[in-house]
Amino acid sequence: MGFKLFSSPLQGFTDFRFRNAFNKYFGGIDTFYAPYIRLNGIHEIKPAYKRDILPINNNGLEVVPQIMTNNADEFIYVAKYVQELGYKELNWNLGCPYPMVTKRGLGSGLLNDPVKINSILKKVYIECDITISIKMRLGYDKSEEIFQILPILQAFPVKSIIIHPRTGKQLYKGELDLDSFQRCIDYTTHTICYNGDITTVAQFNALAERFPMINHWMIGRGIIADPFLPGMIKNNTSTYPENRKITFSMFHDTLLNEYSQALSGPAHIIMKMFHFWEYFINSFPNSQKGLKKIKKAKSINAYEDAVREILT
Ligand SMILES: Cc1cc2nc3c(=O)[nH]c(=O)nc-3n(C[C@H](O)[C@H](O)[C@H](O)COP(=O)(O)O)c2cc1C
Repeated sequence: MGFKLFSSPLQGFTDFRFRNAFNKYFGGIDTFYAPYIRLNGIHEIKPAYKRDILPINNNGLEVVPQIMTNNADEFIYVAKYVQELGYKELNWNLGCPYPMVTKRGLGSGLLNDPVKINSILKKVYIECDITISIKMRLGYDKSEEIFQILPILQAFPVKSIIIHPRTGKQLYKGELDLDSFQRCIDYTTHTICYNGDITTVAQFNALAERFPMINHWMIGRGIIADPFLPGMIKNNTSTYPENRKITFSMFHDTLLNEYSQALSGPAHIIMKMFHFWEYFINSFPNSQKGLKKIKKAKSINAYEDAVREILT
């Protein structure tokens, strides 16, 4: 099996509770990229971010923390913090497309500023020795922006460049620009990882055939929509295990239990689980009614009834 599968960071979803539950029941993921850490102008990491990457909360998982910043000093501060925890790699988020982020020149909002990217990396590489990988899009406005950045990255020993072949403006929809992704491969000697819209084994196989030189693949929403997917990709099979619903139920109950302990009050717990179900429901076609019931549930009992209807 010559390729690696990574789990994409999804803020609000792929926290340590999800990662542990996923790994217990499904597997197939080599490395989990954790959702971003972001500082708010001061050199202080919020407790929730700290909790997410604490080694004790990630036992037996291969995790890479991520930072979203446009400031070298913040980068260095977080790099040193994660190094103290034992992490060897820090991933830099240059992909987040949300206007609240991009307007501040963060995430994909930094992709039209190659000079700044260069100066941040220069300082970071001088002042710390952490391994850096980058997660990015083709650009903010246009796919061409990446071709100003790849030559700059060529001067630094970045471990890998994870590319989601869309622009920031596209958010998470619209066509993937696979031709530009191919050009990126031809444009750099760095290791490239593909990320975007892998939701079935067949789709993965088609992409793997189109890009035979790629052996690092990252999956985000597809893992939540179908947590069996990474294992099935690894085994190159479209056949689900016979105990599919039972395994999924146990995974679901573990998540529910974890979030019941972490969140206060049924409304918060049900809302959290509902957001997961907006993805999970893809695994249960014809269950849209159940999803509505989950959304309307006012108690954990009502929530569990709705879930049982979907899962039995
Ligand atoms: C709800 C949500 C949260 C996300 N959070 C992050 C994040 O924290 N860091 C990051 O690099 N990308 C984040 N992303 C982007 C994903 O990691 C991924 O690049 C994108 O969804 C495309 O991959 P996919 O089609 O396999 O989901 C997020 C995406 C979504 C939909």
